[in-house]
Amino acid sequence: MTFLRVIGFSLALLGFYALFAHTLPQVEPDLSEPEVVSTDGLDMEGMIALGEGLFSGKGTCTLCHNGMGRAPDTLEMDLAVTFPERLSDPAYSGVAAGKEGPEAVDAYLRESMLDPSAYVVAGFGKKGTNDAESPMPVVNAAPIELSAVEINATIAFLQDRAGMTPTVPLPSAEDTPVDKEPISAEGMVEAPVTDLMEALDNFACAACHDLNESGADLGPALGGIADRMSRTELMGAILDPNAEIAEGYEEGLMPDTLAEDMHSSELLLIVDYLLTLPAPDPSAVPDEDDGPITDAIGVIDEYACAGCHDLEGSEADLGPKLNGIGVRMNREQLTVAIVDPNAEITEGYEPDMMPDYFGDDMTEGEMTLILDYLIKLPE
Ligand code: HEC
Ligand code: HEC
Ligand code: HEC
Repeated sequence: MTFLRVIGFSLALLGFYALFAHTLPQVEPDLSEPEVVSTDGLDMEGMIALGEGLFSGKGTCTLCHNGMGRAPDTLEMDLAVTFPERLSDPAYSGVAAGKEGPEAVDAYLRESMLDPSAYVVAGFGKKGTNDAESPMPVVNAAPIELSAVEINATIAFLQDRAGMTPTVPLPSAEDTPVDKEPISAEGMVEAPVTDLMEALDNFACAACHDLNESGADLGPALGGIADRMSRTELMGAILDPNAEIAEGYEEGLMPDTLAEDMHSSELLLIVDYLLTLPAPDPSAVPDEDDGPITDAIGVIDEYACAGCHDLEGSEADLGPKLNGIGVRMNREQLTVAIVDPNAEITEGYEPDMMPDYFGDDMTEGEMTLILDYLIKLPE
């Protein structure tokens, strides 16, 4: 019960209700088809605009093609110089090798997207492959799944940026329609946050996922996720959560708006962090209903202290580290910090973050156990 309250607390804390309101309709089966429009009649200017929207939106290209060094910073570099360089690079032996002009660039770009490993820009290969393999996902397969028209639009956009007249075919009535409102760069109005905890808070991941013993279990625990998923799969699971549903969980519960709402830099922060999360220690899982708690670890588990504080190796940092707290606080001060956490806020932290009901919920015995434990917790 207390565990649930802690979770309930964090949900409210993380602005979950706004999210949930957003999420609820998807729990019901959505009978309407996603709104799509035919691209029949779109002119080249329209294609270029569509490509621009796709590059930072549905295509998720800016996830990697940005200034963070994971891929060439395609939107920043002078493509009129770059593309001819690629085509004449002796290391390039793809379809457009040795050719020049807009048609050759078209072929090069198409190949880059459909067969990224055909040519790997020096220094950007998958780790350990000596630039033989590209980390870039194939764009017409999951999770990106661009259609033929969308691939053409992306090429038109990049050719236009290189100062060329696009050479891609215009769409016809037979082409698959595209999503009505391809997620566009304009959707991303807010500046990206650069702090990991803020990013996790903004998107409320820990409200549903146990990122390290927060106890949340609306979604699968993400400890040790690196053993189960590659970086690309993890991104896919976040950006397109309903493409594949984790066993034992409901479809439509994980928000499917993250691709729209997140900046690529925020996604990378979160993904990098998740990949470092250790697998949970199975011996730390508390047994349920096994009588009164008789040790401090039991109290910590019962009240989820380690979900916010770095205890039992949880490395959580929503709250301050408690190591060596006995040097900074005596028993009395420590009691106040636990039962009346807002009486004094630890420097660098926000008020109303730590639950204020421990005083009501803890038995005297539990309080004694946790105080004894914290007072002696080494630095
Ligand atoms: C997961 C990261 C990732 C995503 C997502 C991604 N790329 Fe890439 N891309 C790379 C990397 C890394 C390279 C450099 C290695 C290579 O040449 O394959 C690259 C190379 C390229 C190149 C060749 C660049 C050059 O300078 O010659 C093009 C063109 C390209 N990507 C287009 C796209 C487009 C368009 C999208 C979106 C539809 C996209 N990429 C999505 C990682 C990514
Ligand atoms: C409202 C609850 C909720 C929120 C908020 C949420 N998720 Fe999820 N997530 C779920 C559920 C439920 C699943 C399992 C169903 C599915 O696969 O879509 C899931 C699945 C996942 C998976 C796949 C795990 C696996 O084992 O297959 C990953 C990775 C993930 N979420 C990461 C995140 C990240 C990162 C955030 C924050 C940016 C986040 N989630 C926010 C509920 C949520
Ligand atoms: C939802 C997150 C959360 C949970 C759960 C939580 N805390 Fe905290 N705790 C915080 C935050 C944030 C602060 C700093 C702000 C403040 O002083 O209220 C804090 C402050 C403290 C402090 C004062 C530390 C200092 O250096 O001043 C102590 C002691 C403490 N918590 C103990 C506990 C114990 C024991 C539990 C479990 C019974 C617990 N906390 C559960 C978030 C949490």
